[in-house]
Amino acid sequence: MKDLFGNALLDYQNGNYSEDIITSTHISDEDVLPLPYLFREYKDMPKIEQKALKLCKGDILDVGCGSGSHSLYLQSKGYKVKVIDISKGAIEVSKQRGVLHAEVLNILDETETFDTILLLMNGTGIFQELTQVSKYLSQLKTLLNPGGQILIDSSDIKYMYEDEDGGFWMDMNAGYYGELDYFLSYKGEKESPMKWLYLDFETLKLACETVGLTCEMSMEGEHFDYLARITI
Ligand SMILES: C[S@@+](CC[C@H](N)C(=O)[O-])C[C@H]1O[C@@H](n2cnc3c(N)ncnc32)[C@H](O)[C@@H]1O
Repeated sequence: MKDLFGNALLDYQNGNYSEDIITSTHISDEDVLPLPYLFREYKDMPKIEQKALKLCKGDILDVGCGSGSHSLYLQSKGYKVKVIDISKGAIEVSKQRGVLHAEVLNILDETETFDTILLLMNGTGIFQELTQVSKYLSQLKTLLNPGGQILIDSSDIKYMYEDEDGGFWMDMNAGYYGELDYFLSYKGEKESPMKWLYLDFETLKLACETVGLTCEMSMEGEHFDYLARITI
């Protein structure tokens, strides 16, 4: 991984903002991911993220924290928060912005336990593929204190396969429709292709049940997105 995402966060943080990140997937054209969005304040966050922050309790782990926006808000409310990310740049920026406990770490290598685990901005993306969901959910389960919760958002992206006549063009023989090949570029450089998973609520709920977790709909968003609350 070249960590172009982290480089972009570092540029923005250090006053060198000149370009946004460009993303695309195997089913969609190029899209702009504005860097200021990755530094959003509470008032600019989607309603489902605001809801997740309101539901937080106890010691918190923010997984895939990016620039640490959610955790900075939680810290300001007095919560003890740890942030982790596989992006060195993201962790550097989180520290520069004032996150007190930040570590470059893959969620699969985390060993501490928490009362709330947050995965936001399509948190299921980190699972990459449907076949890996059980592995990640089982790991997250081991990190929960008694009475703990996982707060995770995603979207049902079936709408991306809808044509103008209201029909769907998805290939039923292909894998799960939420599994995307995800491409990112920044300042003309291309990141290695990634897998990024969007999960509809029912599929997430079923996956939770298979590993002994309970999944409830906490809030539905404005565009096929939702926040789920997962407990043991
Ligand atoms: C879409 S960004 C979300 C950033 C942030 N949560 C936000 O809402 O602005 C996803 C983040 O997850 C991180 N990530 C991906 N896989 C991860 C893993 N296995 N463990 C920890 N972080 C991961 C990426 O480096 C990236 O910073």
